[in-house]
Amino acid sequence: MKAARIHAYGHSDQIEVEDVTSPSNKPDEVLVRIKAAGINPVDWKVREGYMAQVAPRPFPFTLGQDFSGEVIAVGGTVTGFAVGDRVYGFASGAYAELAVVSPSMLAHKPATIDDATAASLPTPGLTALQCVRIAGVRKGQRILIHGAAGGVGSIATQLCRATGATVIATASSKDMLYLNELGVEEVIDYRSQHFDELVHDVDAAIDTVGRDTATRSLKVVKRSGIIVSTVGAVPEDQARRAGVMAVRMVMQKNANDLRELARLVDAGTVKSPRVGRVLPLVAAREAQDLYESGRSEKIVLNVRQS
Ligand SMILES: NC(=O)c1ccc[n+]([C@@H]2O[C@H](COP(=O)([O-])OP(=O)(O)OC[C@H]3O[C@@H](n4cnc5c(N)ncnc54)[C@H](OP(=O)(O)O)[C@@H]3O)[C@@H](O)[C@H]2O)c1
Repeated sequence: MKAARIHAYGHSDQIEVEDVTSPSNKPDEVLVRIKAAGINPVDWKVREGYMAQVAPRPFPFTLGQDFSGEVIAVGGTVTGFAVGDRVYGFASGAYAELAVVSPSMLAHKPATIDDATAASLPTPGLTALQCVRIAGVRKGQRILIHGAAGGVGSIATQLCRATGATVIATASSKDMLYLNELGVEEVIDYRSQHFDELVHDVDAAIDTVGRDTATRSLKVVKRSGIIVSTVGAVPEDQARRAGVMAVRMVMQKNANDLRELARLVDAGTVKSPRVGRVLPLVAAREAQDLYESGRSEKIVLNVRQS
């Protein structure tokens, strides 16, 4: 089978699309034929070696984690999945034609969307679900979402709106209309405006941007409010002085949240992130470069046509 692998950490020119031995599943695993693989910022962080300490892997290894595909073999002890099931979830190496997946990382794919769209969902979707859960978002609250037009931000925005909360978004002006369509009335253009001069007394802030965004958000979150960040830490002493709880979250991959996300998508409560380009597996380098160059639309690898 074909797989997009790296033999050393580095830039995208380390990615080689190669013929490798097809994997086979153990009794507690499922073998999936990947149809589409979603690209996430974590994919180039892995490629560049930033995750080497937390999740070391021997070289060479296949990149990518989010996928949509079809079950082609089921281990003897696995329940809940059958050959032919359409699934989505997390693989350790999703930029490949086949992947062995634990059932704890897998769910039936939302029935109302195609493979490319489903492949854009797992990481941003579960991150957004868990951020909103940690923030304890409730009806009537005002929530500031940084990077609201991106993968995580767009889903967090929709989840907050669905609970009846008001969302104030930071984003580029090009994404203003998109965010209006998601139910956001107040969009702050981060390129020309300073959110900390415009926003006050929000119940929570969700930060998907990093750098000093979470620390600057301390000024705009109510006392006893919360900042949940996917990227940057707020120094504990500063958070304590501001009377704000600051949480740096790490997305937990799990089947329950994948099922919940699929239910929300099929119910029309959540739309997946915007998918921009869909490129073939052989263009894995170009696909990572495109997304890394800073566009809000997702890039997906089309691994095998439905
Ligand atoms: N902790 C975890 O477990 C976890 C899980 C998932 C993701 N993450 C991290 O969370 C971050 C976001 O992920 P993502 O998938 O949502 O990325 P994404 O799809 O690339 O979205 C990022 C968004 O942020 C916008 N942006 C950039 N600078 C901004 C600023 N100063 N103010 C407001 N918006 C700004 C971008 O807009 P432009 O179009 O203007 O660039 C883009 O819309 C990444 O760093 C990712 O690694 C962490």
